[in-house]
Amino acid sequence: MVTNESETFDIGGELTVHRLGFGAMRLTGEDIIGEPDDEAHAHSVLERAVELGVDFIDTADSYGPGVSERLIGEALDTEREDLVIATKGGLLRNTDADWLAHGDPDYLRNAQLCSRDRLRMDPIDLYQHHRPDPDTPFEDSIHALAEMKDEGLIRHVGVSNVSVDQLDRARDIVDIATVQNQYNVAHRDDEDVLEACENYGIGFIPWFPLGAGDLGDIDGIGEIAQRHDATPYQIALAWLLGHSDVTLPIPGTSSLDHLEQNVAASAIDLTAEELAQLS
Ligand SMILES: NC(=O)c1ccc[n+]([C@@H]2O[C@H](COP(=O)([O-])OP(=O)(O)OC[C@H]3O[C@@H](n4cnc5c(N)ncnc54)[C@H](OP(=O)(O)O)[C@@H]3O)[C@@H](O)[C@H]2O)c1
Repeated sequence: MVTNESETFDIGGELTVHRLGFGAMRLTGEDIIGEPDDEAHAHSVLERAVELGVDFIDTADSYGPGVSERLIGEALDTEREDLVIATKGGLLRNTDADWLAHGDPDYLRNAQLCSRDRLRMDPIDLYQHHRPDPDTPFEDSIHALAEMKDEGLIRHVGVSNVSVDQLDRARDIVDIATVQNQYNVAHRDDEDVLEACENYGIGFIPWFPLGAGDLGDIDGIGEIAQRHDATPYQIALAWLLGHSDVTLPIPGTSSLDHLEQNVAASAIDLTAEELAQLS
C-alpha cells in the first residue's frame, strides 16, 4: 500500500504537512484553460491524493481560471484541520492562455474573496502572491496580503517567483511562510533563494519539480533509478526531498498511476553519494 512517507514541515510554524504535496494545475483543460474533459476523474485524483496521505495541495485562481480551485472545493473537505490548501493570486489569463501579472492591491483583495468562495474555505490556509507585477510596486501588493492576514482572511502569506532581494523586502512587511519558485534537479537557478529559505526556516515550494514532465538527460539518474527499482521521475522527487529540509515539492498530474508513483517516491532514501552525484 502506497502512503506518503515524507517527513513533515510546519508551514508558518503551525500548519503541519507532509513535505511531498500535490500540484493541482494539471487538473484543468488544455493549456490550463477551462474544464477538464472528465471532471469526475479530476475529483478522483484529488480524493486519491488525500487517501494516499497527501495533506498539502497547491493551486491558483489562474488555473482554469477558477477551475482548479473549484474542483478542489467540490472534491475535498477543505476545512479539515489536517489538510492544507495553498492558493495564489496576482495573475490574469486571456483566451490566448497568456499569464499576465496583475498585482494591484484592490484586485488581489477581490481575487482572494473569489478563491475563498471556490475553495469553500475561510480563512485560506496559505495565500501566495503569484508573481511580482512590473506595473505595481511590489511592496503595495505585499501590503495587501499583509492586510488580509491581519483581517483574518488568510492564515499565512507566501510569495512566488521572487529573488532573494524581493523575499527580503516582503519579509520587511509581513511574515513570509513559503516561497514558490521554479526548481528541480535539472534546473537550479534559484539555489540562492532555496538557501535563503533554509536560513530563515521557511518552506520552499519547487514548481516544475518534474520539469513539467521533461527533465532532459541527467547524468547518472537512470542508473540510480535502476538501483532503487524506481523511475527517474521518482528519483527527481526523492532528490528534492533529500537535498534540503525545507523543500515542499508539489508534483502535478492528472493520472492516478503517476500520482501513486509520485507519492511512492517519498519512501526512497537516496544515499549521500547519490544526492551528491545528482547535485
Ligand atoms: N508558482 C508558479 O508560477 C507555478 C508555475 C507552474 C506550476 N506551479 C505549480 O507547480 C505544480 C507542479 O507543476 P507542473 O504540474 O506544471 O509540473 P511537474 O509537476 O514538474 O510535471 C507535471 C508533468 O509531469 C507529468 N508527470 C507527473 N508525474 C509523472 C510521473 N510519475 N511519471 C511521468 N510523468 C509524470 C504530468 O503528466 P501526467 O498528467 O500525464 O501525469 C505533467 O505533464 C503545479 O501543479 C502548480 O501547482 C506553479
